[in-house]
Amino acid sequence: MIPESFIQELLNRVDIVDVVDRSVPLKKAGANYSACCPFHNEKSPSFTVSPTKQFYHCFGCGAHGTAIGFLMEYQGLSFVDAIHELAKSVGMTVPRESREQEQSSPQVADGLQEVLHQAAQFYKAELKKSQRAINYLKERGLSGQVAAKFQIGYAPAGWQSLQGVFSHYESEVMKVAGLVVENEQGRRYDRFRDRIMFPIHDQKGQVIGFGGRVIDPEDTPKYYNSPETPLFQKGHELYGLFLARRAIRDAGCALVVEGYMDVVALAQYGIEYAVAALGTATTPYHITKLMRQTESIVFCFDGDNAGRTAAWRAAMNALPALTDGLKLSFLFLPSEHDPDSYVREFGKEKFEIEIKHAIPLSQYILQHLSEHNALQTQEDRVRFLNEAEPIMQQINAPRSAMYLRKKVAELAQLTSEEMHALLKLPNLSRSPVQVKSKLSRTMTSLQKRFCIMQLMLPAMANQADLEWISGEHDEDVLLRRTVETCIANPQSKPVVLLRVLENKVPSHLFRELEHELSRIDETLDLQVELAGARAQLQSIYLQRKSATLLAQLSEKPLSALTAEEVALLKSVGNKSGQNKA
Ligand code: UTP
Ligand code: MN
Repeated sequence: MIPESFIQELLNRVDIVDVVDRSVPLKKAGANYSACCPFHNEKSPSFTVSPTKQFYHCFGCGAHGTAIGFLMEYQGLSFVDAIHELAKSVGMTVPRESREQEQSSPQVADGLQEVLHQAAQFYKAELKKSQRAINYLKERGLSGQVAAKFQIGYAPAGWQSLQGVFSHYESEVMKVAGLVVENEQGRRYDRFRDRIMFPIHDQKGQVIGFGGRVIDPEDTPKYYNSPETPLFQKGHELYGLFLARRAIRDAGCALVVEGYMDVVALAQYGIEYAVAALGTATTPYHITKLMRQTESIVFCFDGDNAGRTAAWRAAMNALPALTDGLKLSFLFLPSEHDPDSYVREFGKEKFEIEIKHAIPLSQYILQHLSEHNALQTQEDRVRFLNEAEPIMQQINAPRSAMYLRKKVAELAQLTSEEMHALLKLPNLSRSPVQVKSKLSRTMTSLQKRFCIMQLMLPAMANQADLEWISGEHDEDVLLRRTVETCIANPQSKPVVLLRVLENKVPSHLFRELEHELSRIDETLDLQVELAGARAQLQSIYLQRKSATLLAQLSEKPLSALTAEEVALLKSVGNKSGQNKA
């Protein structure tokens, strides 16, 4: 568990205004800040953030919480991930989480970090001593400044140079860290010898691994990387991300390239928002990681065939992670170039013009699919459809998917209806998925909030509530059982009521309820909150009921309702309509 004291300290350190403002631009409104609520559709702002209380609150939908809650709701993060994200933003380190989980390896993990750090220091110092290594970097056009920024080093040519640094050269941790390897006779030697060393940092800036490049072009392999360790998983890490974070935010864009040297050379030429996958294909994990920093990702792989293959794999791997807010594009360099050579030859300005003209993902997909397909014969078009189908199946972002489908149908010379009859494609909701899932999250959190207040004030449970609580979703059941339990035990304490509820409600909701109840904000006016949550829920439930009539009603002016309520009514109506279908 993360200690409660750390969470308090963290909440003291962050400012919720900054946290929210990064995602939802806020305007000053008196003592508070306000914006249109990101959790439901509205035209006039009812979402406020209080810098003194460090809470956000929406009068429209009841969304409410701390900076942690905001990240959970807005980015869909888990509690633990939200804490990590926040801690990162203020440079705090989250203490080790689950004691059980780490019991086997706490020393190993700490030890690993320590030896990797020491090794990085050693390699850096060795670079200063090796004229040959310095010359190599100079010949490649690297300045001392950039080498220092990336903490580039040199592993000397000896077999056991690290023995001079580590008295425990023979210990397990050296092997786990990937700094040494053992031959068949069990004799140890340094993994990296006579190589230029690129330390790989995690998002906290700690060294978690290395990439080492040969100096002598005859040596192989050209790059040698740390093995996977408890600290280092290649599919998760991006080289250069720690140093690029700031620049990525400033540029509003991240550039993904293939090589260590590409990242470094681009930085030297003033393009500091580049990162590289570590000799692996780009994973959805990489994309999701970058999406936390920016909404625009440009892939720029080498112009050779390998680069083109890597680009297509990156595109395919990105599909499940796509959202309509994310812009993915692809920049193809001339076949003789990689980003390193290109920026050296043409400079920053030209490179950035190329970045601006990168091909959007959907266009790239179509281009790729029709590259070796003239689409002239019926067979061509069938093949095209067959190849397009699994791609379209993976895209859930409604707008991107819709656009692509239209184009595919066009190229296959089918109408949309004909194409849909032929292919199995997921239903795209009419309103953006994003808004919908947020609305349903808000609904759920509203239901939970009501239950929490109700459990705090069981004597205020109201028989009449059972009349409007309808439906059989897990949350509906939770709501009904909570009210019933409170009516039956009006004098009981919340913990006791929880135990009564435990076996009557879906367990995932029970756990969430228990968790939230344990951290309820004591300063809330519970009666007011209960009444507020009840009023909102009641109106949503009534609206939900009437949603079945929506089809008939939709033409008539719903004069009694405000524009916002109509909007809400419609989205709730669409939702319940879909659930029934
Ligand atoms: P490149 O060969 O394109 O690397 O491989 P580069 O950075 O442009 O190398 P220079 O310019 O010749 O120094 C791209 C990436 O693939 C991985 C490395 O991560 C490298 O940066 N790779 C490549 C390996 O892991 N091992 C290899 O032998 C080669
Ligand atoms: Mn290169």
